[in-house]
Amino acid sequence: MTFLITAGPTREPIDPVRYLSNRSSGKMGYAIAEAALEVGHDVILISGPVNLAPPRNARFISVLTSDEMFEAAERHANESDVCVLCAAVADYQPARVSPAKIKKSGDKISIELIPTRDILQSLGRRQHRKFLLAGFAAETNDLEANAAKKLQEKNCDIIVANDARIALDSDENEVVILFGDGQKTKISRAPKKIVARELVKIFCKFATKMFDKKDVMITERT
Ligand code: C5P
Repeated sequence: MTFLITAGPTREPIDPVRYLSNRSSGKMGYAIAEAALEVGHDVILISGPVNLAPPRNARFISVLTSDEMFEAAERHANESDVCVLCAAVADYQPARVSPAKIKKSGDKISIELIPTRDILQSLGRRQHRKFLLAGFAAETNDLEANAAKKLQEKNCDIIVANDARIALDSDENEVVILFGDGQKTKISRAPKKIVARELVKIFCKFATKMFDKKDVMITERT
């Protein structure tokens, strides 16, 4: 199968030297990419700026802004059997990017922010899509209720819900997986590598069931 994975944060420029971003490390997305490659899948990894080496054998697309990530995901989704949108895309971007560095003054300033385009929602709206669509929900409260809402609103097949306080910039994670058919399963706290392997198995099983895809399980690459 071919996996499309988005990972890491995005940077939304304010002026030539400043931007809005977040603390996402990209570790979960990269671990999913590695886990998929390990068992012989093809991977298109669309990554925001992170301090991680791109996995060997992945098709790697480096992006900075939410708009660049949106365009790359839209362009490559139909080549994929499983789309895993793991990136912590900024929810807002400055309405205008100043062409010159904004000068410091003693006065208060405000920056007008407008919503970014939602990649997961946009792929979920595609008619006759033939790829499994999985999103992530990082929450600090009402984890499952918020994740269930996302599953519905963004019309995806799977939402992987995690506590932002455990997941952010950490090597470990603990997730609850909500499925479009109402099922639910949990992966207990473990290194992200281990969680990623379980997730890849789950995504493949579900994609095979939903879209009658062939699950290629090749022996592990060394
Ligand atoms: O709505 P929220 O940002 O909490 O949703 C999280 C999920 O949506 C993640 O899978 C994230 O990658 C995806 N997302 C996206 N594009 C955005 C915002 C979120 O793909 N602009």
